[in-house]
Amino acid sequence: MHSITLIPGDGIGPAIVDAAVKVIEATGVPITWDRQLAGMAAVEKLANPLPDATLDSIRQHRLCLKGPLTTPVGGGYRSVNVSLRQTFNLYANVRPAISFEGTATPFKDVNLVIIRENTEGLYAGVEHFIKVDEERIAAESIAVITAKGSERVIRYAFEHARKAGRNKVTLVHKANILKCTAGLFLEIGREVAKDYPDIEFDDRIVDACCMQLVMKPHTFDVIVTTNLFGDILSDLAAGLIGGLGLTAGANIGRDAALFEAVHGSAPDIADLGIANPTAMILAGAMLLEHIGERSAARKIEHAVRAVIRDGRVVTPDLNPTSGYGTQDMADAIVSRISELD
Ligand code: NAI
Ligand code: MG
Repeated sequence: MHSITLIPGDGIGPAIVDAAVKVIEATGVPITWDRQLAGMAAVEKLANPLPDATLDSIRQHRLCLKGPLTTPVGGGYRSVNVSLRQTFNLYANVRPAISFEGTATPFKDVNLVIIRENTEGLYAGVEHFIKVDEERIAAESIAVITAKGSERVIRYAFEHARKAGRNKVTLVHKANILKCTAGLFLEIGREVAKDYPDIEFDDRIVDACCMQLVMKPHTFDVIVTTNLFGDILSDLAAGLIGGLGLTAGANIGRDAALFEAVHGSAPDIADLGIANPTAMILAGAMLLEHIGERSAARKIEHAVRAVIRDGRVVTPDLNPTSGYGTQDMADAIVSRISELD
């Protein structure tokens, strides 16, 4: 029996998390879910975006499946997503982008994974305004890159490549301009690469990488990069394979792992029952893979891909005239899984 912290989140979160739980349970893997609050839902009930009970639960189970959490823009509380990654030192954010048959995108045969450093860089939280007579005349955000933090995520990328049977790691940076921060990251990358002669290694400047991802996405395999670039590139990669509703991510640390969709709480469609549950369901599959439940993870992936290929019982982001919603799509995936048994 596996015990897993479950955070439904807000916006479309509770609906897609329900869908994911239904699909995961259909595989028969025995799981007890420890439901906890975070973000807006926790502020409303407990006046605290990240309650101790939630942190204790993750500390105890070391595994978490999390729905998206709304983060106030500008002021308000700090991103709970960023806090969770930093609290549990979830240093590697693994975001695969693999083409689906049956999605309306001109890009075929995309099969890459972005590994984003998840605790440092411009997300380190070192920022402030500079004020003169209470007027904000400037602002500074400091990117923090450590040799140790760079090495562990780059090493993770190479190990991931080996384990997943991938043969190239591309390090993405801006070392021509950010000579210190990006420079250090690149320098460590070149050193680590020497330990992996079986894996090809190259590097790209982030702007050129964006162009190439659109022109020749199939030339990428594993991308490893710093926090902000990884955040941006992974949404770009999600666009290549048919949208944010389709891509999942794992946040991996030494002592805990947290699985989520790449997308946010989608307030624009929150009450419509039409959110695509795929990303959240695939986050569940990544979790199962992580805990060694390989065949259950494969079943989910097969079932999701079959339902999308079929194109009938899918949410409107995939087929605008389908007339189906989140739970219909989840049910279609569940019945595919039972056919695979
Ligand atoms: P978003 O990812 O929530 O939405 C962007 C666009 O994609 C919207 O048009 C939305 O309707 C669509 N979309 C997203 N997920 C979808 C799905 N499953 N099915 C169909 N369409 C989907 O990004 P946005 O609007 O910038 O952020 C909303 C909130 O989410 C913000 O407060 C943000 O901070 C938070 N957020 C949280 C994340 C997390 O919990 N890991 C990640 C990204 C954003
Ligand atoms: Mg993002």
